[in-house]
Amino acid sequence: MATILLIHGPNLNLLGARDAEQYGTKTLADIESSVREAAQKLGHSVKAFQSNHEGALVDFLQKESLNAAGIIINPGALTHSSYTLHDALRDTKLPAVEVHLSDISSREEWRRVSVTAPACIAQISGKKEAGYVEAVEVLHKKLSA
Ligand code: DQA
Repeated sequence: MATILLIHGPNLNLLGARDAEQYGTKTLADIESSVREAAQKLGHSVKAFQSNHEGALVDFLQKESLNAAGIIINPGALTHSSYTLHDALRDTKLPAVEVHLSDISSREEWRRVSVTAPACIAQISGKKEAGYVEAVEVLHKKLSA
């Protein structure tokens, strides 16, 4: 039984009311409960957190990674700019999977770069909410290996 941290960055509290074509229609609460369900089936528990503030995300990672085995993170737009979050992820020494609802590789030029992905074992992009269930499976495989 492992604890998985499920972390969302800026603006993702508004899921359900954002651009549905890019991000789908599920709310953050919907996504959190489907991740919990998928994790529970594999014997894991989930601790979820969302913040619009970079420092709060770093504080959460520093504190909660001490009692966790893996991370699923959608950093929102911090994906494209936050070396701070990159370092915080690296410093946890935990396997992390980066998830994007939209396909960042086919959007604006600046969205195609992820500075946080190199601190992760995998990136799943463009599969809407299904990407999160896949992320649970990727982490489970890694944790069982
Ligand atoms: C996002 C993609 C980011 O570019 C954007 O800033 C988001 C959401 C996604 O899930 O597709 O807020 O991370």
